[in-house]
Parts: sequence; C-alpha cells; structure tokens
Amino acid sequence: MCYFRSRTILERFPVKNTELLKPASREEAELLEKLDPKRLPNHLAVIMDGNGRWAEKRHLPRVAGHRAGVKAARVVIETCARLNLPCLTLYAFSLENWRRPQAEVDFLMRLVREYLKRELPAIHRNNIRLLVIGRSAQLPEAVGKDIADAMRQTAKNTGMKLVVALNYGGRAELADAFNAMLDHVRTNGLFAFRADEQTISDHLYTAGLPDPDLLIRTSGEMRVSNFLLWQIAYAEIYVTEALWPDFSRVRLLEALVDFQKRERRYGGLGALRPEHDAHSRRG
Ligand code: FPP
Repeated sequence: MCYFRSRTILERFPVKNTELLKPASREEAELLEKLDPKRLPNHLAVIMDGNGRWAEKRHLPRVAGHRAGVKAARVVIETCARLNLPCLTLYAFSLENWRRPQAEVDFLMRLVREYLKRELPAIHRNNIRLLVIGRSAQLPEAVGKDIADAMRQTAKNTGMKLVVALNYGGRAELADAFNAMLDHVRTNGLFAFRADEQTISDHLYTAGLPDPDLLIRTSGEMRVSNFLLWQIAYAEIYVTEALWPDFSRVRLLEALVDFQKRERRYGGLGALRPEHDAHSRRG
C-alpha cells in the first residue's frame, strides 16, 4: 500500500489538500480544491455493499467481487489516512452474513486473514490503529487470533483509527452493552444504578470513539442494515449508486464535498452540537 511516509512532517505544517493527496486526475484535483480540510468528518462509517452485483455484471463468481472490494477498501483507507480523518469504520461482515453459502463465508474469512497479513505492515508504518468491533469470540479461532495480534501490534499508534466491523450487529452490540451494565450492577450491588446516554455509549464496542458524522452506503440501497444503530443517531447519510468495488477516490471525495454542504442542526436551529446527554434532541 503506498501510504505516504512523511505524515508527521505534513502534520506539522499546514498544507494544501492537493499536496496531501496527489490528484491522479483533473476530477480529483477539482474535488480536492473544493474540500475544506477543517470541516472533514471526525468519523466516517461505510456500508460496503454491491460486491456480488459487481461480479454478476461481469459474469464472475461472487468471490471475485469481494476481492475487488478489498482493493476499493484499500483506496478508501489510504485516502482517509492522507486526509488525516481521525476515524474510519468499515462494515466488513455482519452477524446476518453467516446465512450466506458456506463457501462464500469461508472465502470472506480467508480474505480477512489475507488482508491482515498483506496490509498490516503498511497500516502500522503509517501510524494507523486497527480496531475490530463485533462478536470476535464467535469468529473462527485463526481469524480471532490474527485480529488480536493486529490490534496488539497497532495499539500504540496515534494516527487514524481504522475500525473493522466483523461479525457485527447493531442490536447485538446494544444487547451486549446492556448485559455488561447489568453485570456491573450485580457485581457491585448498585441498586440505585441508572444509565444515561453517556453510560450506554461507554459500554458499546465503540466506547471512546466519536459518533460517525457521515455514513456512506454504496449500491443504492436505502437501509442502515443493523449498523452502528446507536452511534448514527445524528450522522449525515450519503447513498451512492456505485457498487462497492467501483467506489473510487473520486466517489469518496464527492461524498466528502457533499457532506460539507449539509447544514447540521442536531434538532436545534444552528450548526452547534449540543452536549452529549441532551435528551431533547430530535433530528
Ligand atoms: C457486500 O457485498 C460486502 C460484504 C459482504 C463485505 C465484504 C467486504 C469486503 C471483502 C471488502 C473489504 C474487506 C476488508 C477486510 C477491509 P455483497 O456481497 O453484499 O454484495 P451484493 O449486495 O451485491 O450481493
């Protein structure tokens, strides 16, 4: 992966977007010029959809779509890291995805291991911290071990957080959070315990991460598919017809430019974000 190496130097000096990210085409250059580096999302979450349809259109097996999907993920990770986005979450495998044919599930698990083996050195070199969210304990043992090793290896990195949702479900995450709170109450005999919004956030897999402010979904489907249900309460949603393997740097920059045009009101009249625990927020 050709992540740029001189990131610390670039971070110290204010630079133009076109210097951070050498545009490969006129279209990219124009989009980069439009992008305000001070108003990028803190956390971009992506539902990568359409690998199967991409393959079908080319009369290829579905797994060819997943392979092409990894290449698209690589471009998005690299671009977000170069733009200094603090956090990027990719939805790679849902709890529901076990319903797919066994051969496809096995392929996806192999692909995750292959991905980690090939890309981890570059991820680490570029100061990216890898986090995996979901029910990791239910993943095949070898996958779980590779994930744990990768998270350990990158744990001290201070750059972009790359969060991969694997064996993830939003409702399952909430159930896990509630059970963790109940365990805490029982263990400590806290009969007067009450949870507020912050307490719930603190027990999610994403504890400590900012809520996504932009959610991108590819392939035109208007669904959130059980992804980060609590966390996307105020996220801007951007749906593109592009199938995930076709989601290029240009498509990502278009989404970011579109995000910067939106007026974020958080239920109020202006663009200011209220305190986290404001119960009266309505979108
Ligand atoms: C959706 O396509 C995509 C997935 C099920 C997730 C797999 C994602 C990748 C292989 C890319 C990134 C991987 C990593 C490890 C970062 P789909 O099969 O649902 O497509 P369809 O809706 O057209 O059938």
